[in-house]
Amino acid sequence: MPQSDFIVFGAPKIEREEIDEVVRCLESGWIGTGPRVAQFEKEFAIYKGEFYAAAVSSCTAAMHLSVLAAGLGHGDEVITTPMTFCASVNAIIHAGATPVLADVDPLTMNIDPAEVEARITHRTKAILPVHFTGRPCNMDALLGIAQRHGLKIIEDCAHAIETEYRGRKAGTFGDFGCFSFYATKNVTTGEGGMVLTRNEADLARIKMLALHGMSKDAWKRFSDEGYKHYFVVETGFKYNMMDLQAALGIHQLRRVESNWRRREEIWKQYNDAFADLPVGLPAEPEPDTRHGYHLYTILIDEARTGVSRDSFLEAMTAGDIGVGVHYLSVPEHPVYQEQFGWRPEDYPNAMRIGRQTVSLPLSAKLTDAEVSRVIAGVQSTLSVRSKGRSTNGPGLRHESKKPTLALRV
Ligand SMILES: Cc1ncc(COP(=O)(O)O)c(C=O)c1O
Repeated sequence: MPQSDFIVFGAPKIEREEIDEVVRCLESGWIGTGPRVAQFEKEFAIYKGEFYAAAVSSCTAAMHLSVLAAGLGHGDEVITTPMTFCASVNAIIHAGATPVLADVDPLTMNIDPAEVEARITHRTKAILPVHFTGRPCNMDALLGIAQRHGLKIIEDCAHAIETEYRGRKAGTFGDFGCFSFYATKNVTTGEGGMVLTRNEADLARIKMLALHGMSKDAWKRFSDEGYKHYFVVETGFKYNMMDLQAALGIHQLRRVESNWRRREEIWKQYNDAFADLPVGLPAEPEPDTRHGYHLYTILIDEARTGVSRDSFLEAMTAGDIGVGVHYLSVPEHPVYQEQFGWRPEDYPNAMRIGRQTVSLPLSAKLTDAEVSRVIAGVQSTLSVRSKGRSTNGPGLRHESKKPTLALRV
């Protein structure tokens, strides 16, 4: 349990409405999959513009089911990004297909369409782009590639609930859009996910696979409609969302815009405060797009800052500021090196980002005073360290002149 003045990275903003709804759910006698999940799905589909939505237990589950529902399996290749959480790659592997990585653009940190095109073979069946940090991928280019080569698109929207690209919402471009409601995400249910699709048959298959492969509406079998027999028609999974989780999600979703505005405010404050520091700052959002502002990441290049990324992380933590790394590039992990022979240096942009990146707190829950503490912490850690002072203890309490170099990525 963190001490009280520790700023918890990604702490969710939970308000009275969610708490009351959870209590009502607990008292209702129905805490598993039920009417609150149905309500959450309906409101999510409306938020996204009347698509079909299936709530599941995680984004990982959402992607696994989407790859299966896309009809992909053994012998099929799915191109994705090395700058993502392992879940994007694992979902492909669990479905029996083969992940292929295409390096990212160094500025946007999103999958580079030219790299995607270069990796297409006769086995390629889908692209799984990740709208990384909430910044939309270049969907015009990816849709063009998909169309030319007859590929499916499964969007990993774990960071991208509010994201838009040229007036269209993330998760509505491809065949499937997969969302995360993990504890640190922009809308949270603790753990949880959603699949968005435009196709009713895909929705039915995903719902069925998410509940053991049981026939339609099996979750209603104990409802006041009377016991319903079900049949198992496929060997499915246990990936359903509970009403207890949806009780949180319904009210989180209703506050999605005000929370987004607060994160945008913090984002801009960080940009102003760090403009003169010798660190990489996030690129400006591209014109005609909406950034989801899920992660605010800075790049720490030891050669410029005099401080390594990892000692920066330690100093921030010692100063009671929770920070994150999103992510070490996928090929850094031993399991993929062994299974696919991937090497980090073959994806140099993702490798560099993964070795330099630090995510700063960006939760809508942050108070103005906490934002100021984060800013002071970053400024003083970098100025203390770049002047070659002691590396023991937090540099966060040390006030000194800001370095003047600026690097924008
Ligand atoms: C890019 C990305 N994809 C997928 C996931 C997996 O989400 P979940 O934890 O809901 O399975 C995450 C979680 O952090 C993520 O960051």
